[in-house]
Amino acid sequence: METGLKSEFSILGREVNGRRLVYLDNAATTQRPDCVLRAMDDFSRTMNANVHRGVHRLSQEATEAFERARDIVRDFVGAGESAEILWTKGCTESLNLVAQGWGGANLKAGDEVLLNTGEHHADIVPWQLVAERTGALVRSIPIDDDGVIDLDALRGMVGPRTKAIGVKHVCNATGVIHPVKEIAEIAHSVGAVIVVDGAQALAHVIVDVRELGADFYSMSSHKVYGPMGMGALYGRRELLEAMPPFMGGGDMIRTVSFEGTTFNEIPNKFEPGTPNVPGAIGFARALEWVQEKGLGELSRIENELAVRARDELLEIPGVRLVGRSVPQASVVSFVTDFAHPHDLGTILDGFGVAIRSGHHCCMPLMNRLGIPGTARASFAAYNTNVDIKVLIDGVRKAREIFG
Ligand code: ALA
Repeated sequence: METGLKSEFSILGREVNGRRLVYLDNAATTQRPDCVLRAMDDFSRTMNANVHRGVHRLSQEATEAFERARDIVRDFVGAGESAEILWTKGCTESLNLVAQGWGGANLKAGDEVLLNTGEHHADIVPWQLVAERTGALVRSIPIDDDGVIDLDALRGMVGPRTKAIGVKHVCNATGVIHPVKEIAEIAHSVGAVIVVDGAQALAHVIVDVRELGADFYSMSSHKVYGPMGMGALYGRRELLEAMPPFMGGGDMIRTVSFEGTTFNEIPNKFEPGTPNVPGAIGFARALEWVQEKGLGELSRIENELAVRARDELLEIPGVRLVGRSVPQASVVSFVTDFAHPHDLGTILDGFGVAIRSGHHCCMPLMNRLGIPGTARASFAAYNTNVDIKVLIDGVRKAREIFG
């Protein structure tokens, strides 16, 4: 199946090592359609000005475009109001904001934060830092051999000391889709908050933060066809209002004096300094692009490709899939008995194929699965069956070389 989507991404027309680029590292970052690049460029060419600060025309236009972008993110994730959407640099900053801001204000010695063993480092380390400061304890939620969370074990772990549960919606290393709604119910049954890392989900599954019961939901623009260094955090109004600011500066204040400072309303309370306005506009344009194509249609294409790639990889002797037997989104993670994932990545690069190899920022997950890392082909809707053929030929070639 060839889709016409490739033609909307200039970068996909380039060559690597004399071969047509086959880009299968979409879980690390997706490419951006030309319409996103144009939207960012148009902003810089026609209305570049600082937001929320000027009465002049350009500043007003920039502010309107910036706030319209926030509304688009709000609608995309089903938030109740735009004030619940904070701009950040991406999931890492969003998760640090929650750990430092919410955790710093609410955790005390003896409290517990429960994290999925398969969490990304960006959802583990910030909690460890705040735990060190507050005396709270970070505990890992057991997973099975496919990387699926053991909900019964989680039910047995929660109690009055549980204050927060952290889980990613879709695992970047395996593609496993976690049952966020059920985990939210478990968290809420003991009065804890659920913090969801949505990095790998936004481009692949429908996200409705209220339907999921998420208290916080982090987003990275560059994993959903948008620019890098841009993202957002959804937080429930009452939680955000009760939290202290994360960083200080202009725009997040109402009044400043040397005797004391009062803070702005949400979302501005969490957005000091000049924001990444073209980034917000590009992020929003990327979400519009997804909506124009239809998220359902994009994920149907990716899932068909991922299933086909898994089936074809399994036909190669010595290949083992990671997380094979459970619902997955767009990620095909595998190990072989003939090549280290890094060697495989190098051979494939020679064929113009970009995959990622290693622990995918999930060292506890890899330790639990008993592997140093995986080779990971991750699909986006612009990939094609021809891309799969080049991947499979490359893996077969690697087997000939190393086997
Ligand atoms: N954590 C990102 C990945 O999965 C970069 O590749």
